[in-house]
Amino acid sequence: MAVLGGGLIGLVTAWCAARRGLRTTVVDPAPGGGAAQVAAGMLAAVTELHYGEETLLALNLASAERYPSFIAELEEASGRDTGYRACGTLTVAFDSDDRAQLRDLHALHLRLGLDSQWLTGRECRRLEPMLAPSVRGGLRADGDHQVDPRRLSAALLRACERAGVAFRRATAVRLRAGGGRAAGVALDDGTELAAGQTVLALGSWSGQLAGVPADAVPPVRPVKGQVLRLRMPEPGRGPAGPFLSRTVRAVVRGHPVYLVPRDSGELVIGATSEELGWDTTVTAGGVYELLRDAHELVPGVTELPLAESTAGLRPASPDNAPLLGPTSLPGLHLATGHFRNGVLLAPVTGDALGELLATGELPERARPFTPERLRAPEDRQERQERQERQERQEQPV
Ligand code: GLY
Repeated sequence: MAVLGGGLIGLVTAWCAARRGLRTTVVDPAPGGGAAQVAAGMLAAVTELHYGEETLLALNLASAERYPSFIAELEEASGRDTGYRACGTLTVAFDSDDRAQLRDLHALHLRLGLDSQWLTGRECRRLEPMLAPSVRGGLRADGDHQVDPRRLSAALLRACERAGVAFRRATAVRLRAGGGRAAGVALDDGTELAAGQTVLALGSWSGQLAGVPADAVPPVRPVKGQVLRLRMPEPGRGPAGPFLSRTVRAVVRGHPVYLVPRDSGELVIGATSEELGWDTTVTAGGVYELLRDAHELVPGVTELPLAESTAGLRPASPDNAPLLGPTSLPGLHLATGHFRNGVLLAPVTGDALGELLATGELPERARPFTPERLRAPEDRQERQERQERQERQEQPV
């Protein structure tokens, strides 16, 4: 079994496959890299809910619920800490427009039975004293936590090694097919890897692999995000309490901004959202906008040392939901297109792909996310008929 891509999603897939006894190889020149090196690691099933994404919400909630047991299993298997923090999230509003929007979101949360509580501006500041005095109100979501994606990746890498996953440090350049199914992959070092099952987990690059039949190519595009890392004061050196005790977010003049405080003292500020193809330049404008908006939210941020600025690519799909499971080419599966939720969806992705690879069956909760959903209805019908003919061993008419 081959997993193409050793980012977070590739590693979790490989680990879950290996735990189920499958001989697994990850193909990646630098496993443990990818978007997880940039991501803030918010597990924001509730606070990142968008209208019309209720199907995705169900998967996001399932993964958020799975997180604590997943982390316990992973930390045990790897011997590494992942920086998981059950801290909750506060989303605040500054002006009457923000407040009205946030009120609508709160109403949607309540309709869907989500854990979300409306707070006045004063209550928000009581919870997070570093917030600007201009905060007018906010939503408290005590179930939206965080994990450190860099530590999570490192733990997954270690757990994979301990579970016997092999690593081919090369780039997959062409899918090999034979007998009407995926048969492995050709690598840029001139070698080939044969595999009965292949998982495409190349993040934003998942649609770029040569040799994939046109109707199996995942429609994934890169969406750039710039992210900053600052250092908060050590306890006892700054204001009386912690600088921030939970994730704080807002939409400032139409730009979403979030601040994610880690136990390590790191404060992650994100993120821009830019449709600029493969560009990963950190720009002065991107850094300026993030700091400007974060400063509006928490004025004290401009006093903190700026440690790092990075940019990564979110693998976006046409409906913002991941692509999980079989393609039109037997033996080729997808684990990609996670867009804004790659870190959140890592546990359910691993569980779903592990089960699919081991049993041939995708678990019920992952079925709405097969690539099949994005095909035109007539293509779906034609494919279904073709499959039925194959099953009856009939020749096409
Ligand atoms: N989920 C946060 C982001 O994509 O920026």
